[in-house]
Amino acid sequence: MRAICYVSTACWQLDDSELEHLLQAARTRNREHGITGLLLYCEGSFMQYLEGPKADIAPVWDIIRADEKHNHIITLFDRTVPARLYSDWTMAYRRTEPPDFAKLLNSDWATSSEGTPEQCWFVPGVRMLRDFWELNQTMPAGRAPPPASGAGAARRR
Ligand SMILES: Cc1cc2nc3c(=O)[nH]c(=O)nc-3n(C[C@H](O)[C@H](O)[C@H](O)COP(=O)(O)O)c2cc1C
Repeated sequence: MRAICYVSTACWQLDDSELEHLLQAARTRNREHGITGLLLYCEGSFMQYLEGPKADIAPVWDIIRADEKHNHIITLFDRTVPARLYSDWTMAYRRTEPPDFAKLLNSDWATSSEGTPEQCWFVPGVRMLRDFWELNQTMPAGRAPPPASGAGAARRR
């Protein structure tokens, strides 16, 4: 199992229907390839965490990198992982506020691939992204998030 996390810049501000189209195409292909993950969009920036069997993730990663809707792709994390973190989602999606996005981006993603696959769970960026998703996915769209000190903040995987 391999997981990749990257950030990129949208070539223009995608509107809701363009994002919907992108997600639909992504989810269909991901289902075929056994890929799961999470996509965040924040004012023209993407962050995506993809996970799946090595042989399946490679062609999808090629398609994503070649997509002309975004550029300036920076890989934050690319490692062998022991398990999925987003197994229920062919591609979970959330529009994200700039302060949250900045926190995730500036987290430590430990790009070196040293260590055992299990050690990837200790990479702060991976944990922060997962915690962010857990905290936010339960909230109806558009509702303000609870304060960072709320019950969800302390929850782990
Ligand atoms: C930020 C971003 C994330 C994407 N994620 C995926 C993905 O998870 N899986 C996938 O198969 N394609 C992914 N794609 C590619 C889209 O599925 C692609 O845009 C889609 O095939 C529609 O492209 P088209 O209408 O320009 O042909 C991604 C593209 C972008 C820009």
